[in-house]
Amino acid sequence: MQALSRQLEFELERFDAKAGDIESVFVGGGTPSTVDADMYAATFDLIAPYLQDNAEITTEANPNSASAKWLSGMRELGVNRVSFGVQSFDDGKLKALNRAHNSTQAKEAIINADKLGFEHISLDLIYNFQGDSKELLKSDIDQAFELPIDHLSAYELTIEQNTPFYATPQAKQDDEELAFWVAEEITHRGFEHYEISNFGKYQSRHNRGYWMLKDYIGIGAGAVGFRQNERYYPQTNIEAFIQDPLKVSVEHLSSNEILTEKIFLGLRSNIGIQQDILNNDMQQRAKIAVNEDKLTYRDGYFYNKNYFISDEIALYLLG
Ligand SMILES: C[S@@+](CC[C@H](N)C(=O)[O-])C[C@H]1O[C@@H](n2cnc3c(N)ncnc32)[C@H](O)[C@@H]1O
Repeated sequence: MQALSRQLEFELERFDAKAGDIESVFVGGGTPSTVDADMYAATFDLIAPYLQDNAEITTEANPNSASAKWLSGMRELGVNRVSFGVQSFDDGKLKALNRAHNSTQAKEAIINADKLGFEHISLDLIYNFQGDSKELLKSDIDQAFELPIDHLSAYELTIEQNTPFYATPQAKQDDEELAFWVAEEITHRGFEHYEISNFGKYQSRHNRGYWMLKDYIGIGAGAVGFRQNERYYPQTNIEAFIQDPLKVSVEHLSSNEILTEKIFLGLRSNIGIQQDILNNDMQQRAKIAVNEDKLTYRDGYFYNKNYFISDEIALYLLG
């Protein structure tokens, strides 16, 4: 944890952080719940002077390792939002997904978090995994809404390099209609669809900060940070990170790349696209999309009506 604190101190200085600058914190990446809550104390002590009074402080948690003791320890550090990687409440599917927890553990962990007074509780579900049916997913969504959550993320399975399913791409089911159906099932139960994979009575400030391309400090092996149009990457190898926590690789984004990201992210969420960042041709195309009822226009921003076609609209606007 010393390496982490060293990098954090360096970044707080580099970001010229002041009291009240930090609006949200996200403890994630690997599996935070496999590390004792006490181990985070030094990091939380370092950020405490910079936190806004109502800062959103999230930790990710895996149900099998998020014990009541661990949750209570994170709560004492000031964590007020917990996001559980549930993925499904179907034990057969959890096994096939190589998850170490079962549905009972998932429910227990969420109920414990509620009893411990976490203000915001979220859970993740994965869909379009081989064998997924509307029946199975409806049961997952029903069971999710029986729990004290104010946010739900529903992710379509993606086959990523260096992940278990990369060798078995058939694990991903290609059912586009299912994405719409899952979204409708969740919004019908009263959660707003505020980004392609995210729903809630509460909208995560951290997630929104990413999609607005706000600057953020990224610390730890494999983390990512963003500062003044540069994305930076501390080393991914833990030993190398511990040896030299200040060594990062930097990706400088051109103004065109920033514009492209703002368009894609703005259309995938309710953040929208500010008219002023678009050049004349793009504005013309956006107005056509408004006339075609694909976008709406309000207070200087264009908003997408259907996140599932956001990439097509983005490519159209970019021309
Ligand atoms: C993106 S973060 C969760 C952030 C959280 N939903 C929040 O609002 O704070 C981690 C989640 O990504 C999802 N995930 C991990 N690997 C994935 C994959 N290959 N395909 C789709 N989703 C994946 C899992 O649901 C995992 O719990």
